[in-house]
Amino acid sequence: MTLDDRLERWGGEQLLLRRDPCGATAIVAIHSTALGPARGGTRLRCYSSLDEAVDDALALAAAMTLKFAAVDFPSGGGKAVLAIPAGLGGEARRGLLLRYGGYLRQLEGIFGTGPDVGTTPADMDVIAEGGAPEVFCRTPAQGGAGDSGPFTALGVAAAAERVCLHLFGVASVRGRACSVQGLGGVGAPLVRALSERGALVLVADPNPAAVDELVTACPGVAVVDPRVLLEAPCDLLMPCALGGIITSDRIPRLRCRAIVGGANNPLADPEGGARALAARGILYAPDFIVNVGGALAATGIESLGWSKVQARMRLVEAVSHNLDLVFRRAEEQGSDPWTAARGLAEERLARARGAAAS
Ligand code: PHE
Repeated sequence: MTLDDRLERWGGEQLLLRRDPCGATAIVAIHSTALGPARGGTRLRCYSSLDEAVDDALALAAAMTLKFAAVDFPSGGGKAVLAIPAGLGGEARRGLLLRYGGYLRQLEGIFGTGPDVGTTPADMDVIAEGGAPEVFCRTPAQGGAGDSGPFTALGVAAAAERVCLHLFGVASVRGRACSVQGLGGVGAPLVRALSERGALVLVADPNPAAVDELVTACPGVAVVDPRVLLEAPCDLLMPCALGGIITSDRIPRLRCRAIVGGANNPLADPEGGARALAARGILYAPDFIVNVGGALAATGIESLGWSKVQARMRLVEAVSHNLDLVFRRAEEQGSDPWTAARGLAEERLARARGAAAS
């Protein structure tokens, strides 16, 4: 597909690209400012091509719009990707983050950012030092709210309980087999929460240190090879790594009752994938409903003055309420939960646009 077609299909507002002297490309995708200034994390990783990095930024930015709209939060959707050359680290990486902060300053507040795959609260401190006007989740030492991952994980755990209520009639993961893919900022605290709540957790991550730590610290946690995790039998499959892993050829081989995870855009083809999952009787808890916790808590705490306790209560309530609503609507409409969730977010966007016009 040409860039023209991809932008047309994306339907967003702006795509900005900047080459950095270290060889990285900074991509800022502003999907929608209808509900407020665009906000979203900064993802930092290697990609096999610039096209792949741009497509990731576009899809992630669109997901942020849906995420904030579904919870009626006054924030638009955007995302940044720092597509780095292999092996970038140390001072070179710090230099990139500083210059990226300066780049965001030039954008004059159209995009506020926070952490995502490959970035941490300490990185947010550096981006802010570089001059970016709105940076969420800086370290507490710098006056920030700290990592958003534990908030996201709390929302995913709450979502898992609603999914269990829907499937098994009890809002609890106790005794349920949960397969968690990825033990990063969201996966690791999620595994701790699931273990505390009595679930049987299978984990996989390419980093052996992350796996060892959790398996020793948490009861009921066992490790499997990352290559088998996705197709291993379980109650809940919980993707917490990169997107695009639920492909059309994998769906027939899944052996889970439901998918509920922290990863953004796990369905390679959201519409077709959600339909195929529904046809197989696998309950799909829409990613942008389930994983809103980090973005909601960080922006609520830092831009609206919520306390951490308030943020936790609000995010659990928002995730639980919206999931119940989209499962019910999907049944009533004879559609699937992803389609119902997108409908919910679009209704709220349309309402905000209507209010702004009148
Ligand atoms: N990266 C996160 C997400 O995808 C969280 C984030 C967004 C954190 C905006 C803070 C601000 O939702």
